[in-house]
Amino acid sequence: MFLKGKNKNAPRIMPRHIAIIMDGNGRWAKKRALPRSAGHSAGSKNFKDIARYSNKIGLEYLTVYAFSTENWKRPADEVENIMNILRDYLKDAKNFKDENIKVKFIGNIAVLPDDIKDLIADAEENSKDATGLHLNIALNYGGRDELVFAFKDLANSIIKGEMSVDDITEETVSNALYTKGQPDPDFIIRPSGEYRLSNYLIWQSAYAEFWFSDILWPDFKPKHLEQAIDDYCKRNRRFGGV
Ligand code: FPP
Repeated sequence: MFLKGKNKNAPRIMPRHIAIIMDGNGRWAKKRALPRSAGHSAGSKNFKDIARYSNKIGLEYLTVYAFSTENWKRPADEVENIMNILRDYLKDAKNFKDENIKVKFIGNIAVLPDDIKDLIADAEENSKDATGLHLNIALNYGGRDELVFAFKDLANSIIKGEMSVDDITEETVSNALYTKGQPDPDFIIRPSGEYRLSNYLIWQSAYAEFWFSDILWPDFKPKHLEQAIDDYCKRNRRFGGV
């Protein structure tokens, strides 16, 4: 699936791991004179469609940014609205199993309300044997926050005598992140006309390719994902070499 050739001479090397910043829900709603909550509902529906489509085309890993460590600054009713959308999605968790999608939440989940933590644990447990898409949902996620957790974890291991300072390597740092054991994202997609990373996967994206577009997230359809993947396949990734 990941080597898809138009002809034998021109194989396309597909990304293994795509990460998406689902941005533009608020502007999508504003354009339609709807409340921001309607934008998040449309964004959530679109997330499900894109996850299903990614699974269908054989993508290995998809990571979506659902809620950042900075998003708590939003009005309380908007935060509650996003959490309720998440609750509804998680209550439907048996679908992950039917769809053969393995779901994992990345981020500081420990501080979330107990009912959400329970729903997350159920969703991860119910989908753990799925063999299709690995779907990471970044929730209360921040790249710097993730690194601080990782450094504390490594420091504790050193204090306990389980490792030495010289054991701190790129590999041990990577293995102390939420994405432990997963390939780094090859390709990061940000719709909605913003050109920044917003504290997303800052360690993991060191060699990622980027794709930006003005499309607002609820309007980002499978055909746009295909277009983005086509563009990715034309890139020449050198990883610092020549
Ligand atoms: C950014 O758009 C979007 C968010 C901060 C929330 C994203 C959440 C969802 C799509 C729902 C996720 C649900 C599940 C089940 C994973 P924005 O509000 O910043 O848009 P704007 O920049 O146009 O205001």
